[in-house]
Amino acid sequence: MKISPSIMAADMLNLEKDLIRAQEAGADSFHVDIMDGNYVPNITFGVSMVETINKFKNVNVPMDVHLMVERPEDYIEPLAKAGAHGISVHLEGNPHIHRLLTAIKSYGVQAGVAINPGTPLIMVEPLLDVVDYVAVMSVNPGFCGQKFIKNSLDKIARLIQIRAKKEHYFEILVDGGIDEVTGSLVKAAGADTAVSGAFVFNGDLEKNLAILKGV
Ligand code: DX5
Ligand code: ZN
Repeated sequence: MKISPSIMAADMLNLEKDLIRAQEAGADSFHVDIMDGNYVPNITFGVSMVETINKFKNVNVPMDVHLMVERPEDYIEPLAKAGAHGISVHLEGNPHIHRLLTAIKSYGVQAGVAINPGTPLIMVEPLLDVVDYVAVMSVNPGFCGQKFIKNSLDKIARLIQIRAKKEHYFEILVDGGIDEVTGSLVKAAGADTAVSGAFVFNGDLEKNLAILKGV
C-alpha cells in the first residue's frame, strides 16, 4: 500500500525539512488538502502551496491535491500549471462532477472523486469509468487528527468487487484517521493508497512512516 502523508499536519515553519524527511522515509506522494473555510469549516492554504513545494529542489514525490472548496472549477487550471499530479474533487455539492473530472483529465492530471462518510457509494458508480482514483473519506473532511470511521472499509471492499467485474481500472485511496491499527484494516480491505496526517507528522515521522509502509 502506498502512503501519502498529508502536509496540513506538517510543521509549516519547517515544511521543506519535514517533506524531505518524509520523502526519505518512503512517502509515495504528498497529499495537499486545500480548504477554503466555506466548503469545510477550516482554512488551510491555496494553489500557492503547490507552487511553493514545486520549488523545493530536493522534494520530488508527486503532489496529490484534495480540493475542499466552493467553486473547485476555478482551481483546476491553476493547480495543473502549478504542478499537481492528481486532483480530487468531492461528489457532494458538485452537481457537474462528471464535467469537473473530465476537465481535470484534460490537463493530463489524474482525476479523483472524493466521497464523504455519509454518502452512499452508489453515487460514485456512474463516474468509475472517468476517474483515475476514488478517495474514500474515513473522516468528515476539515481537520487532521480525527477518529477513523469504519464504514469506509465496506466502501473499499465494494469498490474492489466492482473493479474486478468491470473493464475500467481506478485506484482506491483512503483518507483520514490512518495509524498503525486502521492502516492495517484499510490495507486488508484492499486500499491502494492511504493518506496519513497526524500519525506521520505529529509523532516520530521516520518510525511512523515505516510502520505504515509495513502494515
Ligand atoms: C481531512 C483531510 C485529511 C487529513 C488527514 O479533512 O482531508 O487529508 O489531513 O489527516 P489525519 O491522518 O490526521 O486524519
Ligand atoms: Zn485529504
